[in-house]
Amino acid sequence: MSVQSLIFEFEETVCISPSNISSALSRLMPEIERIQDARAHQYTTPYAAINVPFDNHMFAQVQELIKEKEALRPTMLVVIAIGGSHLGTRAIQEAVAGVLYNTRTPSIAVYYAQTIDPDELSDLMDMVKAELQKNHAVIINVISKSGTTLETVINFELFLSILKEYAPQHYRKYVVVTTQEDSPLWQYGKKEHFSCLAIPHQVGGRYSVFTPVGLFPLGLLGIDIHALRAGAQQAVRASSDTHTVDNQAALSAVIIYLSASQKYTIHDMFLFSVDLAAVGQWYRQLMAESLGKKHTVTGALVETGITPTVSIGTVDLHSVAQLYLAGPRDKLTTFVTVQTYNTVLTVPSTLALLREAGVAQKALSQVMHAFCQGVQASYKADNRPFMTYALPEKSAYYVGEFLQLKMIEMMYLGYLFQINPFDQPQVELYKKETRKILRDE
Ligand code: PA5
Repeated sequence: MSVQSLIFEFEETVCISPSNISSALSRLMPEIERIQDARAHQYTTPYAAINVPFDNHMFAQVQELIKEKEALRPTMLVVIAIGGSHLGTRAIQEAVAGVLYNTRTPSIAVYYAQTIDPDELSDLMDMVKAELQKNHAVIINVISKSGTTLETVINFELFLSILKEYAPQHYRKYVVVTTQEDSPLWQYGKKEHFSCLAIPHQVGGRYSVFTPVGLFPLGLLGIDIHALRAGAQQAVRASSDTHTVDNQAALSAVIIYLSASQKYTIHDMFLFSVDLAAVGQWYRQLMAESLGKKHTVTGALVETGITPTVSIGTVDLHSVAQLYLAGPRDKLTTFVTVQTYNTVLTVPSTLALLREAGVAQKALSQVMHAFCQGVQASYKADNRPFMTYALPEKSAYYVGEFLQLKMIEMMYLGYLFQINPFDQPQVELYKKETRKILRDE
């Protein structure tokens, strides 16, 4: 039996019978075996993302570059990336280091330039200039698999021009380019003598967080990337287990798939930790881009997909819970909880209101768990289907394990829906239209 560190529960709370689950698992078996087999094929398989956490050469290269850039004593890191090149890094950074990380005045702060909102960018550019005026070092890490994403390339030029202005002789050493070899960005980076890190060709953006895409910025911020990758490795081992009662990725894929066939076509990830909100955003993209596909089944066009939503406990109990508990029965929920929070805080007892509510002197984590259990009990009482994952803590190991497990879950869902979970052909449509508009204007 494999060792599972995330606690996964679903038996009593999903809308599917054990026999349906086990027959869908049998149908999935050839794909589980294919994933197992893909372990031997490094990057020459569409499932290449499962082999990333085992790539020692890549890991060593990243570590070496982290050391080199640490020696510059940077006080700020600007990550310029969007979509799959951005979301995983942010998810891990916020989960492990906290959403308020920058306000704790760490030795190196991190900011993200995703889109091209001029107001947000101008504020961020001012912050970078202020840092450089103090003679502090700022690293910019541009990340784009294709090396052609318009928003990323625009932002890169904007921030690069600031570095050039403040360090005309030395700006090159503050730039790290992460892209696939031979992309236009790679060629530019090499020509300019920037440090370049390669993203393997076969690993798509939303599956790339354990490549240099995530490893370099996270490692530079001091996040334990050894533990991160150990967690991801554990998820690969467990998720390719043909003994399916222990295979959480296969089980959750089957539950999502069978629920969708019963019209539960919305999937809500309900995370009971503010620091995990970006994990929800990462999963939203992973599910939406991987499963939202047009394909043909016996000659007929089928439009497939599950609409992913993200809710945060207890915040969204005060916004969407009414809908979830009374509205259409079209949602399957995955609750994500944290067993041990980083901090122990106790509810004060001065106010009578708190004493009467029975919360005075209780640990805040206990109150949080009570809310989560209360919500789950009301879902259960009204037959609203859900699964739960409990992370023992928000450490790099468990967050790495969870993200890798969800990537493999998505591969299994691709097989069950008979679609390719690795491409995003329709995304190209709007890119083409936008370029046309910009050229014609
Ligand atoms: O998951 C994906 O493939 C996309 O979301 C991409 O990551 C996103 O479009 C950004 O692309 P790139 O990394 O090429 O800049």
